[in-house]
Parts: sequence; C-alpha cells; structure tokens
Amino acid sequence: MKFTDSPVIELPVRDALLSIQQDNGSMHVGTSVWPCSLVLAKFVERWAPPRPTTQPSDSNPYSRLLDFHNTRRRAVELGAGCGAAGMAFYLLGLTDIILTDISPVMPALKRNLKRNKPVLNKALKTSVLYWNNQDQIKALNPPFDVVIAADVVYIEESVGQLVGAMEALVADDGVVLLGYQLRSPEAHKLFWEMSEKVFEIEKVPHEDLHPDYGYEETDVYIFKKKKKENVE
Ligand SMILES: C[S@@+](CC[C@H](N)C(=O)[O-])C[C@H]1O[C@@H](n2cnc3c(N)ncnc32)[C@H](O)[C@@H]1O
Repeated sequence: MKFTDSPVIELPVRDALLSIQQDNGSMHVGTSVWPCSLVLAKFVERWAPPRPTTQPSDSNPYSRLLDFHNTRRRAVELGAGCGAAGMAFYLLGLTDIILTDISPVMPALKRNLKRNKPVLNKALKTSVLYWNNQDQIKALNPPFDVVIAADVVYIEESVGQLVGAMEALVADDGVVLLGYQLRSPEAHKLFWEMSEKVFEIEKVPHEDLHPDYGYEETDVYIFKKKKKENVE
C-alpha cells in the first residue's frame, strides 16, 4: 500500500469511491488523512457482512462484531480528522454515526463530508469534542455501541483524556475499534498501560487486514470494556 501527500486521497469502499481532500500545509494534524484510518476502514470493509446475517459465519471471525445491519448501532468517531474512516464506516452500514474532532479541524471535516455527499447520500453528523471536555462528552448522549479512533495516540499529555473519553463513551457491551501506529514512545507506553486497566484488548492479526491496505507499522485493535469485577 502506498500513502501519498497528494491533495486528494481516494478510498474505494465496496462499490463507492470516497474522495478526501487534505491540507498538508495546515498546522493541524487532523487536516491530513492518516494511514491508520485507511487501514481500519479497509479491515472493516473486508469483514463487515454486506447483508444481514442470521447466524455467525465459520469463515468470518468478525461477522458478529462487524454486522452493522441486524441491530441499529450508535457510533462515534474520536479525532475524525478529514473523516475518511467515519465515512467508510457509514458506507459499510454504520449509519447512526457522529464524527468528532476539535474546533480547528471542523472546517476540513465538514468540507470533506460535503464533498462526498453525492456518495454518502446524507449529511453525516459532526460534533466538536475535546476529549477532556466532560460537558461535550455528555452532550453526545453516551453510551455508544461502537467507538472508532484512528491514529489518535501521539501526545503523552492527552493519552489520559483519550482513554477517559473512550471509557465514558463506549457501552459496557460495546466495542472500540482502533487503528494504531506508534508515534511517540512515551504516549505509546502510557496509552497501553492505561488501556489495559480498562479494556480487554484484542490485536487483529496482520493477515486479517485488507491485503492492499496493510502496513507493517499499523495495527487494528478491538477493545471491550473489562467486566467490573475484572477491573484492577
Ligand atoms: C493524527 S490525526 C488522525 C486523524 C484521522 N483520524 C485520520 O486517521 O486520518 C489525530 C486527530 O486527533 C485529534 N485530536 C488530538 N487531540 C485531541 C483532543 N485532545 N481532543 C479531540 N481530538 C483530538 C486531532 O485534531 C486529529 O484530528
């Protein structure tokens, strides 16, 4: 897989094509498309059942987790940036989704949602969310069945806020789908220490990623809240 700094990134999702405009010259990291969002989106595209399923499939270990058809699942994306992952999830059936980020990134996010409206056939919901803002978290009306986050672990100071937001937003029986790449050793260490206290963590084997969208340094993780009695 090749990543590019060209102004427009194209992301095929089933029979649709998302076109995402990035502004690599901006001082905000969220105005670029980061590899984790593409890797996460294409992992889900590979395994999300295209039609409602009546029973788990032997050939698809993720059929239950990623079947967005049977029950309407509420989803939120943290640090959505240009919206690549959130838009892809929407096209894959996660239709009740809200994309969040900090205020300065909102114009880039909204521009890309508008740009892709002909493909999405809908104006997706957005909301400003700073991970340490409890009022903004409450205003989203958690819990969510699915929390999506791609390439959001890179500043040590915000790791506690991020893990706190994930914990506050995801339902006890919900799931966090994380696209991850090591960006800062300090943030990395703290993130995994904190996450392991709150979540049961499953790493998706690399061979389960989309063959055209695998990247040695990029991983997908599935977090589920630890049952209360198992929390350390
Ligand atoms: C590296 S970018 C990834 C963007 C997008 N998820 C992607 O993969 O293309 C990290 C994102 O996290 C957001 N972010 C960083 N710190 C945040 C915070 N404290 N609260 C909310 N969002 C934050 C940034 O604004 C940015 O959009």
